[in-house]
Amino acid sequence: MSYPYQIRSLEQYHNDYQRSVADPARFWSEIASYFTWKKYWHHVTDWNFSEPHIRWFEGATLNITENCIDRHLATKGNQPAIIWEPNDPNERHRVITYNSLYQKVCQFAHVLKNNGVQKGDRVCIYMGMIPELAIAVLACARIGAIHSVIFGGFSAQSIADRLYDANAEFIITCDGAYRGQKDIPLKSVIDDALIGNRTVKRVIVYTRTRTPVSMIKGRDVWWEDEIQHVVEQGYTDFPAEEMKAEDPLFILYTSGSTGKPKGVVHSCAGYMVYTNYTFINVFQYQPGDIHFCTADIGWITGHSYIVYGPLSAGGTTLLFEGVPTWPDAGRFWDIVDKYKVNILYTAPTAIRSLMGFGDAPLQGKDLSSLKVLGTVGEPINEEAWHWYNENIGKGKCPIVDTWWQTETGGILISNLAGVTPAKPAHATYPLPGVQPILVDENGNEIEGNSVSGNLCIKAPWPSIIRTTYGDHERCRTNYFATYDQLYFTGDGAQRDADGMYRITGRVDDVLNVSGHRIGTAEVENAINMHAGVVESAVVGYPHDIKGQGIYAYVIYNGHHVGDEELTRRDILQTVTRIIGPIAKPDKIQFVSGLPKTRSGKIMRRILRKIAENELGSLGDTSTLLDPAVVDDIVKGKL
Ligand code: WT7
Repeated sequence: MSYPYQIRSLEQYHNDYQRSVADPARFWSEIASYFTWKKYWHHVTDWNFSEPHIRWFEGATLNITENCIDRHLATKGNQPAIIWEPNDPNERHRVITYNSLYQKVCQFAHVLKNNGVQKGDRVCIYMGMIPELAIAVLACARIGAIHSVIFGGFSAQSIADRLYDANAEFIITCDGAYRGQKDIPLKSVIDDALIGNRTVKRVIVYTRTRTPVSMIKGRDVWWEDEIQHVVEQGYTDFPAEEMKAEDPLFILYTSGSTGKPKGVVHSCAGYMVYTNYTFINVFQYQPGDIHFCTADIGWITGHSYIVYGPLSAGGTTLLFEGVPTWPDAGRFWDIVDKYKVNILYTAPTAIRSLMGFGDAPLQGKDLSSLKVLGTVGEPINEEAWHWYNENIGKGKCPIVDTWWQTETGGILISNLAGVTPAKPAHATYPLPGVQPILVDENGNEIEGNSVSGNLCIKAPWPSIIRTTYGDHERCRTNYFATYDQLYFTGDGAQRDADGMYRITGRVDDVLNVSGHRIGTAEVENAINMHAGVVESAVVGYPHDIKGQGIYAYVIYNGHHVGDEELTRRDILQTVTRIIGPIAKPDKIQFVSGLPKTRSGKIMRRILRKIAENELGSLGDTSTLLDPAVVDDIVKGKL
């Protein structure tokens, strides 16, 4: 059986798109009627962007886990919900059927309850890519607790900031995580994050690497022991908490142009409906397909297209613990071959990196099961697109270039695999319910085709950000205040002669490094923490594999203990401590001054040009406080 709201032709796409814009309430209520609700809504949607105040399916109650698990049990109980491929290809893989997922989620929901977790509590999850991470997420949702998953590459300091911001009382973690050759001591990072913390009452630790950990009496408990108690208590089911449509489902922190990450809040009903709808339509998922999304559940892509989208569709989702290049650069292709993967969804960075290894890793790998390929997270260059198309898809798999953001919850602009046309390096057309527009600096709409501008969205779709945790005003100023009555994405885009969108990248001070979002201000703050650093300015520059690299200009007046190179390493160490290894600059140039206007504003445009090696187009530097610093910087360029 296929999905009643799956778009199967170009004509149907146009038709559904028109209907979705003409009468969004009717369009979305029809789709929502296929889900399991405890109570139906009295209002499909109610919104204004000025506050912003955004509501979908108000009056309805539900639990997303009933939609992701319970409703599939009768027909798909013995089908695989999650297939897990471990980091080490020699370790046994695991298959978790819907029946077994139900049992595990219910058991762990009891564990949460036994440990005092209640509806609305914030639970921080810091784990590697193992099935228990998905189980922890779903158990939170079942009990109505708000999960906040933190990617394993963030430092103790970053975790501490997020725990504080969310006022989190519970943590779920592992002793350690395997990633390629590395063994990351997660619990020990959590212990560092908890120094001085006064809110966290309980840490639940799953055993993965059996690395030595310090279990603090009264605070830390083992996952396995807690499950054992539940088994002894004889519990098998856990009634799903009745959640209001607009109750928060989760918080996910993401970087912006300020120094502090914001907690993006998504709510239960709208997020569920939209991730399910986009999963089924963009990837053209068919029951039984094996969907392999290579993202980490610590990012929105993993939330929406490893966990909630596929499971709400009763699909089979493949969860991979390791990295694409270990034990060798053929790992993804081994996995595709081993499980007969049908849909592969990955980042341009991974594609470019694997492309660099040539054909050898592909030798002898049967990729014939693949039907659909996808990319996400950053613009894909044409060369990588063609390589992906020819070498992985063998010219027969449509590639979906999916544009979206943490704040959008699900895919907003993308072709629908094999149904709507693809164009290399173009996200193409909006999904039904999504109304993109391009505006100029003053917020005036740029009409017609073959134009470019700042990308905004006119009206809400069900999984749009509801608020930034603990600070609604921040949500308003960040996304809804730049242009009146529009959601501003922070991206620039072109609309080609056919009306297809091509996302060109951020127009704010946010970098996209290997598909990871990093705020320049955050990196600067971290660099400035280093003793001896007076000031710094961080910009992005084109990087062959990562998409963007991080270039830091640093004024340093301390004395170099050793030489400059050692100071550079100290600075990298500082950034690793404050944010995490993902934010480490690729280049650090020591400078005597930064180009500033008379009012003291750093002219990043000039620094960007220098980092990009576009020295011929530095523009007018005469308005600078001290134009001579530019020459110095150019001379010392790395
Ligand atoms: C930013 C959002 C959405 C999941 C992963 C990233 C960039 C995302 C594309 C694409 C060009 C893209 C944008 C966006 N981006 N997808 N297909 N083509 N750029 O989520 O961390 O919230 O980052 O990633 O710049 O604003 P995120």
